[in-house]
Amino acid sequence: MDYMKAFEAIVAQQLTRVKKMKTDTEFINYQALDKIVIGVIGGDGIGPAITAQAHRVLEQLLADEMKAGKVEFKVINGCTIENRAAAGKAIPEDVLTEIRKCNVLLKGPTTTPRKGDKWANVESANVAMRKELDLFANVRPVKVPELGIDWTFFRENTECLYALGSQGVNINDDLAFDFRVITNPGTERIARLAFEYARANNKKRVTIVTKANVVKTTDGKFLDVCKQVAKEYPEIETDDWYIDIMTAKLIDEKRRSQFEVLILPNLYGDILTDEAAEFQGGVGTAGSANLGKHYSMFEAIHGSAPRMVEEGRDIYADPSSVIRAGAMLLSHIGYQEKADQLFTALDECSVTEKKLTITGRSDGATGAQFADYILSKI
Ligand code: IPM
Ligand code: MG
Repeated sequence: MDYMKAFEAIVAQQLTRVKKMKTDTEFINYQALDKIVIGVIGGDGIGPAITAQAHRVLEQLLADEMKAGKVEFKVINGCTIENRAAAGKAIPEDVLTEIRKCNVLLKGPTTTPRKGDKWANVESANVAMRKELDLFANVRPVKVPELGIDWTFFRENTECLYALGSQGVNINDDLAFDFRVITNPGTERIARLAFEYARANNKKRVTIVTKANVVKTTDGKFLDVCKQVAKEYPEIETDDWYIDIMTAKLIDEKRRSQFEVLILPNLYGDILTDEAAEFQGGVGTAGSANLGKHYSMFEAIHGSAPRMVEEGRDIYADPSSVIRAGAMLLSHIGYQEKADQLFTALDECSVTEKKLTITGRSDGATGAQFADYILSKI
């Protein structure tokens, strides 16, 4: 292998991406579309079971809009690990074609193969979808009112070690390289989105998280660009922390409630949001928005739990995370009132009233019973 040539190709590919980002400035306005097409992707394991429940809830909330032809649902099958492994692709071509016909997606969990398991080691469908549709912002809110926690993470979703995660190079048995990519326009767009969110929601503080003392070039750029954007928002206090001490400060009772909006490169964001979600009851309770300028995708952040399916327990799987993702979807496409109704119903059904308990087994409620409970509140 000619490493220099391979590296040149990677550089050319990334320069093309930078160019495209620079000309792609406008966000899609969902309400201005004649029709909003919502794709529903079940995914793997418990995904189809829980996503079907979220789909049912959204259909009830959007019944009038569907009748008026303003909203259409499109169920997209085939984004399964079996099909992806057979095609040797993170997302099979026919699935991608269907996805592109939608404006916004609700997605169940998809299995990510790893080296050594029974599946071909294709790229994660999540990561591929984020890159294909340029879903550059991974927005993950975590709220625990009784602990004073109200955090919104803006995780950059297309760059860092994820951009070329499948294009590392083994020089020989002893030496391996991966490549980390940070760009100006890629950082600027996530920073701007975070500061705009902070401004619109009266947040007083935005925190930038890097390891710029060690990873000087790429994290250095990320920090510089974020600070540059911060200057346009003088009413907001901006501070920056290193990722190691940040993971500690989330546990610090005196400190943690001071954080509000956080901006992070991809991998640090991946790690810190799992830690953060744990305060709220674990990754299974969190919803996650993947936003781009032309598409957006909303998903549960937990895994596909294949064992539950093997044991015939998928009907008992908890759909609340993907239903929460559905509420975020409603808000994003311009149905804020319906979103608020659904968020309130979720809080009542899983926290305050909690008439049903989901255990993941037959001694608990089924996902369908839980969705009925939610629907009874709407
Ligand atoms: C997440 C997940 C994914 C990621 C995995 C499944 C590739 O952990 O959405 O946080 O690392 O981004
Ligand atoms: Mg993760």
